[in-house]
Amino acid sequence: MAVRKVIRMGHPTLRQIASQVDPAYIGSDEFNRLLSDMEDTLHDYGGVGLAAPQIDVDLRIAIVEIPGGASRYGDLEPMPMTAFINPTVEILNPAAAGNWEGCLSVPGLRGWVERPQHIRVNYLDVAAQPQVLELQGFIATVFQHEFDHLDGRLYVDHIEDMSKLVFEEELLRYGDV
Ligand code: NI
Repeated sequence: MAVRKVIRMGHPTLRQIASQVDPAYIGSDEFNRLLSDMEDTLHDYGGVGLAAPQIDVDLRIAIVEIPGGASRYGDLEPMPMTAFINPTVEILNPAAAGNWEGCLSVPGLRGWVERPQHIRVNYLDVAAQPQVLELQGFIATVFQHEFDHLDGRLYVDHIEDMSKLVFEEELLRYGDV
């Protein structure tokens, strides 16, 4: 088990466009070790997604895992740990909805972000095979948030009303003010 350090907003890597993964690298020992470290890190820090740049690795890889059962992600269908390599997002319907987003690289804060809720994702899986996934609802927000990390964007970039950038503790205490 190797938990890597999650870098925080202000670290320059979070603002860089990450490099494409060479398909020949997928499945190598180094790749498998990286993926395993990303999974350990996500479990240790908690959350539903982690992108490689968040552990200061310049590669277009993100993982998503949505646990089953009651949680603060209760509106989401469970999804087993899945890796998305060189993903691209196509917006199928631009109609947006808002959600309180949080990020391991912006600890303690939440922000209200509106994003399209119907997308298609193209990516390579861990066998370097192309895959397509269509996503609707809040899960579409989760994926856009994670993939933004691969292009040097953070959720705070999308907040239109800065009064909707708040501490998580205050959000829990006072609600959506
Ligand atoms: Ni994030």
